[in-house]
Amino acid sequence: MTDWFDAHIPRHVRTLDAYQPGKPVEELERELGITGAIKVASNENPLGPSPKALAVLPAALAQLHLYPDAGGFALWRAIVAKLGLGLGQIALGNGSNDLLYQLVLATCEPTDEVVSHSCAFLSYRLAAQVAGRPFIAAPTTPDLACDIDALIAAFTPQTKLVVLGSPNNPTGSVITQAGAAKVLAALPARALLVFDEAYTEYAAAWPEIDHVDGLALLRADRRVVVLRTFSKIYGLAGIRIGFAAGDQAVLDVLGRVGRTFHVSSLAQVAAIAALEDGAHVAASARHARAQIERFRAEIKGPSVRVLPSLANFVLVDCGRPSPPIYDALLKRGVIVRPMAAWGLPNAIRVSVCKDSELARVITTINEVLAA
Ligand SMILES: Cc1ncc(COP(=O)(O)O)c(C=O)c1O
Repeated sequence: MTDWFDAHIPRHVRTLDAYQPGKPVEELERELGITGAIKVASNENPLGPSPKALAVLPAALAQLHLYPDAGGFALWRAIVAKLGLGLGQIALGNGSNDLLYQLVLATCEPTDEVVSHSCAFLSYRLAAQVAGRPFIAAPTTPDLACDIDALIAAFTPQTKLVVLGSPNNPTGSVITQAGAAKVLAALPARALLVFDEAYTEYAAAWPEIDHVDGLALLRADRRVVVLRTFSKIYGLAGIRIGFAAGDQAVLDVLGRVGRTFHVSSLAQVAAIAALEDGAHVAASARHARAQIERFRAEIKGPSVRVLPSLANFVLVDCGRPSPPIYDALLKRGVIVRPMAAWGLPNAIRVSVCKDSELARVITTINEVLAA
């Protein structure tokens, strides 16, 4: 079978790394012989799903024998009304990652380049690689944020998609409004600028910090595409729903490469309700900011640095290789995300947690960093 694989599987697929899923907490507890493990590894919302979304799901269960509305009409209408967008400026996806993959498939010729930076969310590279398109990673600033000038210097006549997270995962850094304007001014005429705003509702809790509003830019420039998700602040990661906002011509082509019925009926009704759950969104944003302030003030150690973050996690530069730190934390029941795959071998990423867990998370990290 190896011969068949080598001879018949396209090279760009053969060289892909399979996604390594984290183990479920219960499995880890069993393996390590511990109980009460805390998972702060996946940037989920520790306050749980939007209660309004939970409330509408039982009624939707009775309709599970029917296919979902393939156009997602009711959700689509709710989103454009909420965000003040024109009709046709929204596409729904099975999570926002789904839409990123569709964007690459729908817009990039084989030699077209997807451009981001070296500390960007790994999916940008993966979406390009899965489609066999070149991915270009510009260098970052010394504090691991997007270096706007270096990004622009990486543009070539083949640049087609420029993808920027704001806030970015795993650094938590944002693109400033001036930075975004500079990128747009330098964007090759054939390219689109994609803002991945998976954590943007969290950034709203930091009004004093300048950061880009992708939707405002989209209103002024048709070359902007914004990706949003219900997986983070709305607490609906398990049901898989996200959307893209952009020019109608761009979103039309997404529909051509997307699969039919890829957004479930449960996801659609849950998202409509969650969108109206302002109380849950505001509480989640306040909670994340308060915990990030605690992480930044209290996680300490020789050469340890906790980066500023406007999302629901922090990147901790441990000042030394992080795999043994990750292992030691695991044994003590605190599951963080090691960052070697991101090219950050000294870093771990720590998501916000329940308030009742916070003291243990910080104390355990500090004990391990001090060891
Ligand atoms: C920056 C960023 N974008 C997108 C996603 C994926 O979102 P979704 O669950 O909507 O596919 C994540 C999830 O971790 C993320 O961190």
